Amino acid sequence: MSVFQSLPGFREFYPEDCALRNFIFNCFRRTAETFGFEEYDAPIVEPTELFTAKSGSEIITQLFNFEDKGGRQISLRPELTPSLARMVGSRAQSMKKPIKWFSVGEQFRYERPQKGRLRSFYQFNADLLGDDSIEADAEIIALAIQTLRNFGLTCNDFHLRLSDRQLWMLFIKQHTCDENCMLAILGIIDKLEREEEAKSMEALEKVCPSMGEKILGDIKNLKSIHSLEGLRKFFEEFKVPSAAVNARIEEFAQLLARLDSFGLLDFVSIDFGIVRGLAYYTGFVFEIFERSGQSRALAGGGRYDDLIGKLGYANLSAVGFAIGDVTLGKILEEKNLTPKLLKSIHCFIVYTKKTAAVAMREMMLLRENSVGVDYCLAPAPFSRQLKAATQAGAKYAIIFGETEADASCAVVKNMALRSEELVEFPRIIEVISQ
Ligand code: HAM
Repeated sequence: MSVFQSLPGFREFYPEDCALRNFIFNCFRRTAETFGFEEYDAPIVEPTELFTAKSGSEIITQLFNFEDKGGRQISLRPELTPSLARMVGSRAQSMKKPIKWFSVGEQFRYERPQKGRLRSFYQFNADLLGDDSIEADAEIIALAIQTLRNFGLTCNDFHLRLSDRQLWMLFIKQHTCDENCMLAILGIIDKLEREEEAKSMEALEKVCPSMGEKILGDIKNLKSIHSLEGLRKFFEEFKVPSAAVNARIEEFAQLLARLDSFGLLDFVSIDFGIVRGLAYYTGFVFEIFERSGQSRALAGGGRYDDLIGKLGYANLSAVGFAIGDVTLGKILEEKNLTPKLLKSIHCFIVYTKKTAAVAMREMMLLRENSVGVDYCLAPAPFSRQLKAATQAGAKYAIIFGETEADASCAVVKNMALRSEELVEFPRIIEVISQ
């Protein structure tokens, strides 16, 4: 066994893996463009502070961070949103709104590698900035769902669990108004599905002494609600100021109505089990899961209206999401939704030592015309070269025999039909384009 192994949580992409990755990226890009989003990118490495200040405590523990040779504290990006916020914030005034941007790129988190979670992974990020309407939230949710649909996934395969940080905050404010405690409670709720109940209770007790049991019970009740009517009742019983709750539930209804008119309501479940681990969300939040609930999240996102202001720029509302490639790739393979991915070559050149020069010249002409052509680097018996053509999956073999080449001709063989045609050099391209 070689001593040189790749690092834990980092993948090597053999050609078939790269083909799957490209297939996934192409679908991301195609879908984003059909929604009128433009592609951008940001640095892979950023000042560590960009993330420690804005992403929240969970991401901080997962940073892939170093000191560079200039003594700067730097990190491989764990997510794209803070970089996007900086890019847009610094030029927002001169930009036409709404800004609709997407990106496909690698992210790094120093997590314990496990099923669906690696230390390097790719994300498709899409964000809509400069518009605080409910319709902007709906557009982002629609893009997330439509992207997965374009892979062939249906509402039997996945659902989007939709929740709201504003209602969660109205609930939490009944227990504490300290901002750090409120964020701590959100963090506990976020982990509830992955952590033992006793641990969550202990954490709640730390934040709100001798209230842990009561708060946990209330959280469980809220989490079990899956309708707007249920939400209304829950908050009535809780005596939360009804004007604020009613206004928000009205906006929730507006969001669902827009998703209904997109024909996407079947994909959406109201689900307060979702709060999101990242600190910057301020409104509707969501995660997308496989229906079975077995795998890790396929995607996550929501509204984050304060982040750009907190980075020191003029306030700008924003909403967005990211889909990861790891869980998505697994599901596509499990459901046989990956087409035959490795491309075969269109033509294969068969030649002799004597016809090599002319064969190479004709081959380059085809390549210049965007035709895929391959050949054996050294001439071999025709039978061996034709076998290589079959193995390469070539549609045509172009055989440069010596007598034919002297007459500026080659034999074009259709490999599937086993038919052959003697063709003058200038007509080769026409024949193999049929
Ligand atoms: P996130 O929920 O941290 O959100 O990540 C989004 C998706 O990236 C996850 O649902 C998952 O598919 C994938 N992902 C995250 N961590 C890993 C990992 N260690 N290994 C494999 N896949 C992973 C964000 O990153 C936000 N910045 C999304 C966003 C954009 N919000 C607004 N705009």
